[in-house]
Amino acid sequence: MITGGGGRPLGVDIFRTKSVEQSLRDTEEPEHRLRKRLTAVDLTVFGIGVIVGTGIFVLTGKVAKETAGPAVAISFVVAAVVCGLAALCYAEFASTIPVAGSAYTFSMATLGEFPAWIIGWDLMLEMALAGAVVSVGWSGYFASLMSSLGLGLPDWMAGDDPVINIPAMVIVLILTGVLVAGIKLSSRVNLVIVAIKVAVILLVIVAGLFFVKAANYTPFVPAPKATEEVGGLAAPLIQVLFGVTPVAYGAIGIFSAAAIVFFAFIGFDIVATAAEETVEPQRDLPRGIIGSLAICTVLYVAVSLVVVGMQRYDQLSVKAPLADAFTAVGQSWAATLISIGAIAGLTTVVMILMLGQSRVLFAMCRDGLLPRGLSKVHPRFGTPARLTVIIGLVTTALAGFVSLGALAELVNIGTLFAFLVVSIGVIVLRRTRPDLHRSFRTPMVPALPILSALACLYLMVNLPVETWLRFLVWMALGAVLYFAYGYRHSRVEAGKR
Ligand code: ALA
Repeated sequence: MITGGGGRPLGVDIFRTKSVEQSLRDTEEPEHRLRKRLTAVDLTVFGIGVIVGTGIFVLTGKVAKETAGPAVAISFVVAAVVCGLAALCYAEFASTIPVAGSAYTFSMATLGEFPAWIIGWDLMLEMALAGAVVSVGWSGYFASLMSSLGLGLPDWMAGDDPVINIPAMVIVLILTGVLVAGIKLSSRVNLVIVAIKVAVILLVIVAGLFFVKAANYTPFVPAPKATEEVGGLAAPLIQVLFGVTPVAYGAIGIFSAAAIVFFAFIGFDIVATAAEETVEPQRDLPRGIIGSLAICTVLYVAVSLVVVGMQRYDQLSVKAPLADAFTAVGQSWAATLISIGAIAGLTTVVMILMLGQSRVLFAMCRDGLLPRGLSKVHPRFGTPARLTVIIGLVTTALAGFVSLGALAELVNIGTLFAFLVVSIGVIVLRRTRPDLHRSFRTPMVPALPILSALACLYLMVNLPVETWLRFLVWMALGAVLYFAYGYRHSRVEAGKR
């Protein structure tokens, strides 16, 4: 019999699952125990910290102008419904298996080791890549604020195409330090910053209301218009598969826009990665996940309605729509405040994305799919310090040297794939382990999880062919790594309770 490096026979047990009981026991190992400090409020604030970012501060204008018109508010609702369905599935899992690792851990308990590894590998697309993308966006806002204060930064470090993006690198390094120093400190820093960004968003809503003109809302759903055909690899998969012609505005525009503004909701799922650090996870995780998503949905719909009411949708700015809408009505003081809010907002998005990434890798190392030594918890800070530093350095390098614009869509496809798998996982776990105590139960199983999976799939096929190809290459790379390392070193013992 052929055996792996760890002496494990090379068979077909790549679908072995790890029992929920074993997952829970692993969290008690002294060397791998995270500190339990978070409450429902911490988790909700964490959620808002990571959700409200580039999506609302940047994408709103672009999508209203190019794809949906004033009906962008409906696109936000559509995306929120897709995320809401997934959130209900995440909430059941998080309340049943409150172990770090989110979708990775859930898959390990239901679909088996190899699918779980693939999900863990996939989550890197969501978190590490998004962390780098958003830190580059942060640098853009920072540079523009500095120049409005008369302290312009040189183009080589903070221009549109910098040689090395110093501000992005510096912010990632500072945030890495905060994350190493402890979950409670990270959570406090987050609380202050979230307060600033929510205040700015509320300012946009309340102050903006005074400048809304009813005329800007007509037509609310502009008549559909054929757009320039995007061909080749840049075309959405749905167009290539079904020959659908791309259309802007109208009902179809609302749905295409939903696939883009989906980015604005990414993050509520990351709340589940903090499961092990939560005092009462069974009760508080569902509250944190669903609460943060609900609050953000209300804020997004309100902001988008106000912004398209302040300025005609076809005049909105693509880079800084919120700030520029105020400048357009002669209120440039608000533009500076909004830039400060955006900088604060993006800071916590980057921080929590890295936090989530470290917790997923932590769970993967603990299971032996990656080197176990990396998941040692720091004796004083109680955080997975080694992993956090590694992630910080990789994100810093990506942020400094790589232009990531085109890779942002990879973040969407990676996240949607994880949502899809988690939705299916809920149905599987109900069948395989009906006995488990579920303090939160997804309603209408299996109809709701099936709807959730289909909705994710629909948004996925709206993404370009090249995104799909990159995604498949990344996944293939993950599969190779699994058979070269993870399979042989896995500590998962099939079926053991
Ligand atoms: N939801 C996060 C943002 O919009 C990723 O920046």
